[in-house]
Amino acid sequence: MIKNKPNLKKAQKRSNKDVEIIEDKIYIPNEMVNYGNNKKYLIQTYGCQANERDSENISGILELLGYERTYDENNSDFIIFNTCAIRENAENKVFGKIGSLKKLKRDNPSLVIALCGCMAQEEKTIEKILSSYQHLDLVFGTHNINNLPSLLLDALYSKEIIVDVTSEEGQVIENLPSNRASKFKAWVNIMFGCDKFCTYCIVPYTRGKERSRLMENILDEVNDLIKEGYQEITLLGQNVNAYGKDLNKGYGFAKLLENVAKTNIPRIRFMTSHPWDFTDEMIDVISKYDNIMPFIHLPVQSGNNGVLKKMGRRYSVEEYKILFDKLKKAKTDVAMSTDIIVGFPEETNEAFLDTLALVDYCQFDNAFTFAFSPRTGTPAAKMKDNVGEDEKKARLAILNEKVNGYFLKNNQRFFNKTLKVLVDGPSKKNSDVLSGYSEHNKLVNFKGSKMLIGKIVNVKINDVKSFSLEGELVD
Ligand code: SAH
Ligand code: SF4
Ligand code: F3S
Repeated sequence: MIKNKPNLKKAQKRSNKDVEIIEDKIYIPNEMVNYGNNKKYLIQTYGCQANERDSENISGILELLGYERTYDENNSDFIIFNTCAIRENAENKVFGKIGSLKKLKRDNPSLVIALCGCMAQEEKTIEKILSSYQHLDLVFGTHNINNLPSLLLDALYSKEIIVDVTSEEGQVIENLPSNRASKFKAWVNIMFGCDKFCTYCIVPYTRGKERSRLMENILDEVNDLIKEGYQEITLLGQNVNAYGKDLNKGYGFAKLLENVAKTNIPRIRFMTSHPWDFTDEMIDVISKYDNIMPFIHLPVQSGNNGVLKKMGRRYSVEEYKILFDKLKKAKTDVAMSTDIIVGFPEETNEAFLDTLALVDYCQFDNAFTFAFSPRTGTPAAKMKDNVGEDEKKARLAILNEKVNGYFLKNNQRFFNKTLKVLVDGPSKKNSDVLSGYSEHNKLVNFKGSKMLIGKIVNVKINDVKSFSLEGELVD
């Protein structure tokens, strides 16, 4: 049954209406109270931290219904795919995965399978699911996670797939149940949506308009996290620098960041900053507080002004460099990272060389690099995608080689230095070794007791690689 389908025209809309803040407790229909007792759910999350945080809320809601988490699909009663639409390969991964569950569903018809997140917000995903993935039970979007108990009830009683995805500017929903992935590092949403409409990007259509949480609600959340022993928070938004603009309360990201710093939580990070509205006031706050970590993610996307213009990024290469230099000066030894897209429509080889030159100038500590992927409904998808796939791949390989060289060079400054590391747990590659992140967001591996997990410890670095540092525990 189709309750609501996403609609591109509605997703593009931005009005001046005030954002509604919903503070009610979530509604649980009688039939769903304790429905999940003795049942297990599995949630597979793709995409960015916004999705990671949504999955913590979905998990919180399901545990409120009595469900327990599992990581084994054969042992699941409810499987949820929280998806990402940012590039085609992200979507293909999900379609491959849900396709492979057809057999599991045939063998166990009581299994409920749901798809949510940014892919659900696309018209073309819904068409594809209705034509080829009828074994799904439920599709919901990024705006109605709070309705999950009712949606699940509908799906249980319906023989057909339930689709309930609205395209809207969106609300701010407070007080969702939450089951955080970590006991010492937390994601804290400060705003939702995006109004930048970079021409290549699907996010403004899948997440709605830029809307900020009230500062008091964010600070309450941070203070609760401190009481629970959290060591690090990351303030989240597609463009945190725009925080507060929609509220007309006289405060913005600089004020928020300063107030969060004053809570004295040991580590504060934030993601993502759009270079366009990075103010001097923000830079002052970043330089003034030691618990604001010396790591800034500042996506540049391209080093060529013509390409930047077509991307709708609203800054020039020269302006980016000025901001970059200011930040480097403002915070001693700050680590800078970025995002870069190669093969944007009509990116010439000269334009690509400009991007390489910018990388040589900035010498980033980290960089996420992507080949342009046209997204249906975005302006760039209508531009001439005239850099061939092979050429995109070749440019990506050249760019990666260059950025990787700088990762290694930058990491060398930590050789023989003692770094403060927040210990995450056993290393993914070697369970005898612990790993965690330094203040500069460097992955650090060292030997130590599992008792140290969740603590900030001193590690002296004795080996340096491109993507990690190795060291030993010191007092
Ligand atoms: N809000 C963040 C970015 C979120 S998407 C920001 O503005 O920085 C993360 C990254 O994915 C972007 O920075 C961009 O580099 C990349 N990206 C987004 N859309 C893309 C597309 N259509 N093709 C290739 N890469 C894309
Ligand atoms: Fe996408 Fe641009 Fe918004 Fe980032 S700022 S989410 S790249 S539209
Ligand atoms: Fe992907 Fe949606 Fe995030 S498209 S990058 S999960 S906002």
